[in-house]
Amino acid sequence: MSYRIVLLPGDGIGPEVTEAAVKVMKVAAESFNVSLEFKTELIGGSSYEKNKTPLTDDVLQTCYDSDAVFLGAVGGPKWETLPHNLKPEAALLKLRKALGLYANIRPAKVYDALADSSSLKKEILTGTDFIVLRELTGGIYFGEPRGFDEKRGFNTMVYTHVEVERIAKMAFKTARGRGKKVTSVDKANVLEVSQFWRNVVNDVHKEFPDVELNHMYVDNAAMQIVRNPRQFDVLLTSNLFGDILSDIAGMITGSLGMLPSASLGNRYSLYEPVHGSAPDIAGRGRANPIAAISSAAMMFNYSFGMQKAAEIIEKAIERALQKNLRTGDIDSVGCELVSTEQMTDHVINYFTEIYNEQALGVFTL
Ligand code: NAD
Ligand code: IPM
Ligand code: MN
Repeated sequence: MSYRIVLLPGDGIGPEVTEAAVKVMKVAAESFNVSLEFKTELIGGSSYEKNKTPLTDDVLQTCYDSDAVFLGAVGGPKWETLPHNLKPEAALLKLRKALGLYANIRPAKVYDALADSSSLKKEILTGTDFIVLRELTGGIYFGEPRGFDEKRGFNTMVYTHVEVERIAKMAFKTARGRGKKVTSVDKANVLEVSQFWRNVVNDVHKEFPDVELNHMYVDNAAMQIVRNPRQFDVLLTSNLFGDILSDIAGMITGSLGMLPSASLGNRYSLYEPVHGSAPDIAGRGRANPIAAISSAAMMFNYSFGMQKAAEIIEKAIERALQKNLRTGDIDSVGCELVSTEQMTDHVINYFTEIYNEQALGVFTL
């Protein structure tokens, strides 16, 4: 088998963590006898510098011709004052919309070795394993009209029936394969668009009577994630609420630098760490590459159907953490502080170790 992957490293720590993910992908592909063909393209601020646009039509076309897209991160202080359509972030939004990536999966899982690294207490965290399923191509991010002048600024939060129905279906189907529980998060006590969302989710639920459904207001949900995260299985929500709640969920894992994501549609797929370009640490080899490496594992799983490879990548990350290797964001007393590159090399060594243990039958996943 051969797969074409478009790499969009982007800005800030984007290129550093993309390089890490690619190194791991190459080793995993070689072990499992698949060939990966990489094409690297510009996106975000780095594209703006060269082309005066954050995403060219050519790059978009290259993504249409791919089997999967991997993105590092976009944005940075240098481009903050540009008009909205030229900001680095606009490229990512255009890409998501153009590729039809309506479903964004962000898994918040606690690694045992990191239970002490979070700002939350260990006994609150242990056993937490939920996913944020964020609607990604609708809502206030894309609603019209939008704009601002000297007197006012405005955006429109709008959802169509089709948009809510398809993401709700995915939520129930996903829950069926996990803890059989969906929590739909909205603001139906204030927003009509949320009442509409809730009605459609209730309708779709009729097709999935074996899955439990509850609704929660977004302000309460933010509180519940830090109060008792174990109560969640699939947290279904809209574009803006999902953006905010997934960063909160990031801290469940100990750091935003740990949280991976997959953005899926009917045909295309994109994988990216949830974190941004982290301008405060960019270019110094200090970024945590685990979110990016774990996003690569999601690519093997969802786009290539290589569940075994994905599992071994995840286990290799876990082993590196068990051996007390830490980048700065997850460092704690008694651990070894390592660079982006060192962490990546350790994960690769453990990948090979676990792969060989499996072949000998001494390690079972
Ligand atoms: P950020 O996620 O870049 O950083 C928030 C904090 O987390 C920073 O202190 C940063 O150092 C830390 N952090 C993030 N990732 C880390 C990692 N892998 N390892 C160690 N520490 C890490 O969020 P921000 O500062 O609000 O945004 C910076 C820029 O990134 C903005 O331009 C924003 O629009 C953009 N952004 C892009 C994406 C994306 O491309 N998907 C996502 C979020 C933010
Ligand atoms: C994310 C980011 C993006 C979003 C930005 C960079 C457009 O914060 O992927 O979480 O808001 O969706
Ligand atoms: Mn975000």
